[in-house]
Amino acid sequence: MTYMTSLLAGTTLALSLALPVAATEYRVAVGDGAGGTQEALGKAFAAALAEESGGAMTAKLFLNGQLGDEQDTVTAAATGTLDFSILAINNITPFSPSVGTLTLPYVILSQEDADKVTQGEIGQQMIDQTIEDAGVRIIGWGYSGFRVLTNSKKPVATVADLSGLVVRVPKNEIMIETYKSWGINPTPMAWGETFAALQQKVVDGQDNPYMTINAMKFDEVQKYVTNLRYIFSIEPLIVSEALFEGLSEEEQAQVLAAGQAATQASAAFLRAEEAKIREDLVARGMEITDPADGEQEFITRATTTVWPKFYDQIGGKEVLDQVLASLDRPTAQ
Ligand code: MLT
Repeated sequence: MTYMTSLLAGTTLALSLALPVAATEYRVAVGDGAGGTQEALGKAFAAALAEESGGAMTAKLFLNGQLGDEQDTVTAAATGTLDFSILAINNITPFSPSVGTLTLPYVILSQEDADKVTQGEIGQQMIDQTIEDAGVRIIGWGYSGFRVLTNSKKPVATVADLSGLVVRVPKNEIMIETYKSWGINPTPMAWGETFAALQQKVVDGQDNPYMTINAMKFDEVQKYVTNLRYIFSIEPLIVSEALFEGLSEEEQAQVLAAGQAATQASAAFLRAEEAKIREDLVARGMEITDPADGEQEFITRATTTVWPKFYDQIGGKEVLDQVLASLDRPTAQ
């Protein structure tokens, strides 16, 4: 070895010892804008992933549907063209009907219910089923609060008040049938088109949690809020199963641990921020109405007509009964 080649070899060795292994940066699609639960979940995941992997794996968030509409990101992750996505559970249901149990009206009645169902045996069954049905793995659960109804036309307190309103819903059969049980035909529409449709008055209203209304600046185009509690919005973090399977066991454990840390951060974020966000929306001009008679007419109509229509899709009435039993509630009629 000449002096020059030994010098070069020494330099290469020194450099390779000094330089860290290049990090893999994953892309995370986020349906909503900044300031909501989805972003909080995503930021917590990115921080935890970098920490768990010693910087070898990082995650970059793409907010506001930049990487595709929420439902499209499920297909993209399943086919391996997208790494991770954070989206509302109702936008996974079309690909994995069993998670529809969590979008059946008036099943999840509090953040504690959401936590119990997603963190226990039932949550694990849903994770396994979603891998099988949709080719994506739920690795974290975001919690956004109840989907309240907003509209630009009038205060709504009763089922009858809904008459004459054109309400956008996600392309989700359960939600479509729920509004039908309340006497109106909703307009199914992709999430990415919703703000413009509200602004141009193609539709009068929509439903989403306070967190999401704030993150999407819907208060700029909506005035009236009805405090419905028909769906507690759960916002999973999913990873492409093909990507996950391609990781080493150690990396898989790091991804799962980061997802778990993000779940806890999301729960804390909702507890800490929801009341304040609601006050901010009122300060910015939104007017909140509570449903009449403790929401009883909404509840009775939705549970008696919608639940039975979806027993087959969710895997049988017993699947709903199992969820209700885990929440210490009576089985479905
Ligand atoms: C929807 O209404 O399509 C979703 O709830 C949007 C979201 O993820 O916030």
